[in-house]
Amino acid sequence: MTDAPPVCDYEGSDYRTRFWEGQGRDYEDQVERIALRRLMPPTGSTLIEIGAGFGRLADEYIGYDQVVLFDYSRSLLREAQAHLGNDTRFIFVAGNWYNMPFVSGLFETMVQIRTLHHAADAPALFRELARIARPDGQYILEFANKLNLKAILRYWAKRQKWSPFALEPIEFVDLNFDFHPRWIRQELAAARFRPGRMLTVSHYRIALLKRLLPTRLLVGMDALAQWTGNWWQLSPSVFVSNAHLEGGGTAVPHTFFACPTCKTALDEVTNNRLICPNPACGYQWAVEDGLYDFKEPV
Ligand SMILES: C[S@@+](CC[C@H](N)C(=O)[O-])C[C@H]1O[C@@H](n2cnc3c(N)ncnc32)[C@H](O)[C@@H]1O
Repeated sequence: MTDAPPVCDYEGSDYRTRFWEGQGRDYEDQVERIALRRLMPPTGSTLIEIGAGFGRLADEYIGYDQVVLFDYSRSLLREAQAHLGNDTRFIFVAGNWYNMPFVSGLFETMVQIRTLHHAADAPALFRELARIARPDGQYILEFANKLNLKAILRYWAKRQKWSPFALEPIEFVDLNFDFHPRWIRQELAAARFRPGRMLTVSHYRIALLKRLLPTRLLVGMDALAQWTGNWWQLSPSVFVSNAHLEGGGTAVPHTFFACPTCKTALDEVTNNRLICPNPACGYQWAVEDGLYDFKEPV
């Protein structure tokens, strides 16, 4: 676990109040929900949101029997727990997405929104997600698009050095990456997902437009424009739905968590611990006040 890529750490962050609540981002929130509803199967057994933060989108998952909110930040998960903790469908799990603490073939639906831009090694993340994906399920991924109209115009006007047309990800600020849609499809396919429909999202994320036009109008216009995503992608945000790999097995019934280090299935919680039964490993993981903590062994 020591050679994992660097992580953008939101521990103790005020992300909810600094970025969302009362910050004029109703438009972004609503258009993301529209795209998610268009791509995500509305009901199912197991769903995981990877990088769920404070659970902003959790109310979209009520059609599922079990919902894992997975994030690296314990404090954001505690915020999610504060408003969802009474609903036993939700499971709060802290860990690093490069070492997922779940058995293989577990999740029917996987969702990842506004987080891939923090992935220094997206191909490694995709490989790990392919492992925990149940065959025939869906992975809905949103990513920040480097080939957006603003970046293209800035590049042509020589106000930006990096080319939006180059395939490789661009790290524009430390641990913040934009991705080329073609590169994303290529890397998803390399991890054995089958990328399908694309929706372009947040076309009108422009401060002046947001000030001048009613949010409802902008949301309606974006909802229409999203369908163009299958042909071209010039918006700052892109959603892609992916069919999970066809081969591979479904998780053995009554298994759920696995040791993130050696991937051995873990038994029941004993004395607030999940203990890896593999004698060569033996790590123990804390379970405290409903939070399964796989960030570091205890
Ligand atoms: C910009 S926030 C988005 C939160 C949520 N998806 C939303 O849209 O409201 C990015 C989230 O990704 C999480 N994250 C970043 N790197 C991670 C990693 N390696 N493993 C798990 N979560 C990670 C952060 O803790 C943070 O909560």
